[in-house]
Amino acid sequence: MGKPTHILLGQILSFSDDPFLTPLHDAVNFERRGAVVIGDGRILAVGPAEEISRPVDAKVTDYGDGLIMAGFVDAHLHYPQTGIIASWGKRLIDWLNSYTFPEEARLADPNYAREIAKRYFDLALANGTTTSLSYATIHPSSVDAYFTEAQSRGLRALAGKTCMDRNAPDNLRDTAQSAYDNSKLLLEKWYGVERLGYVITPRFSPTSTPEQLSALGALWAEHPECLMQTHISEQHEEIAWVSELFPDARDYLDTYESHGLLGERAVFGHAIHLTEREQSRIKEVGAGLVHCPTSNTFIGSGIFETARMKAEGQRVGLATDTGGGSSFSMLRTMAAAYELSQLKGQPLHPAQLMWLATCGSADVLHLSDKIGNLAVGMEADLVVLDLSSTLAIAQRSQRAEDIWEAVFPTIMMGDDRATKAVWVGGSLVR
Ligand code: GUN
Ligand code: ZN
Repeated sequence: MGKPTHILLGQILSFSDDPFLTPLHDAVNFERRGAVVIGDGRILAVGPAEEISRPVDAKVTDYGDGLIMAGFVDAHLHYPQTGIIASWGKRLIDWLNSYTFPEEARLADPNYAREIAKRYFDLALANGTTTSLSYATIHPSSVDAYFTEAQSRGLRALAGKTCMDRNAPDNLRDTAQSAYDNSKLLLEKWYGVERLGYVITPRFSPTSTPEQLSALGALWAEHPECLMQTHISEQHEEIAWVSELFPDARDYLDTYESHGLLGERAVFGHAIHLTEREQSRIKEVGAGLVHCPTSNTFIGSGIFETARMKAEGQRVGLATDTGGGSSFSMLRTMAAAYELSQLKGQPLHPAQLMWLATCGSADVLHLSDKIGNLAVGMEADLVVLDLSSTLAIAQRSQRAEDIWEAVFPTIMMGDDRATKAVWVGGSLVR
């Protein structure tokens, strides 16, 4: 038997185009009083409430002024770092050595990995995030913990075993061969199971030998349907270190490309300090960039120029980068993206911020036909936002003269209290 049919009533936000490239009135669909009909885990209809035909057996939930939109898509994070989020005072390499690697080593214990995976998904859903693309640790069981938890909640979720065979502690190193073998086993075990997707995951060039990068490049060539995720050009010290470790490489991107790790389905986290050659090559290939704004300020990395990257035709998604990022909330992440864009004199419109957190991230994950928007046939992963969740927000949004003035205070000041409801695969989960 299929899942029951539901009708959700409220304000509705969806996109018919990219608001970075198309004028707002053409890119955005907003219904002051709209309806979303969901059945069998998918969206059956969406539009003005009075125009939608209502199946007789459908259950109606009226969210009033609640804003119904696609669940947020977090395109880069490390669920194993949940417990060390907000650790003080370091830059990238010291932060990895002081806080991250000791904690990731603890996930060798499958029970601990399960506990952290459960905690991570509790926090993600509390914040309205319905799809996550995570790094696991080097331990295959940490991938199992993540996917088992996601599967039990019916989530669309992606992750991969982080591969590192140098410049990491002994208990966090694999080899070129074991990285290949274990990634392949996990890929065969999890790729395409229900709504799960395995992602080939070299951590970044400093922690992989050329042999390991080649082995993972070979695995990707055997499974081009998979995504490949890694980090690139996050901090200047890191970039200098990469050029010492790979003296023959043209640049950071070349350390991936020369080992078969560049393609349309590549997802590069951070990508702040790319050279012109790197930018044009990434654009040519159509690979995705993921902006991690709270992390880029927290670890002191720099300013990703969202508006410029979009204007130049890059594919861009948005992410928390838990736990280098300082929040599980995609609202807080949008606020940080806005603040950073202000520093470049390129303020992002609330529609652009919402698009990045949903459609933009889904596009980078090559899932925009399934998630990240409200449209007929798409998977019914939704968040309902309360646009008056705190006194500070309510007193500002009450003065709003249009939807964007009503939404922007929640983007700037909202947190998990703004999450009124979350639907996953057509079921209410929160
Ligand atoms: N670069 C390599 N590993 C990491 C990580 O775990 N977090 C961040 N922010 N950058 C990285
Ligand atoms: Zn990261």
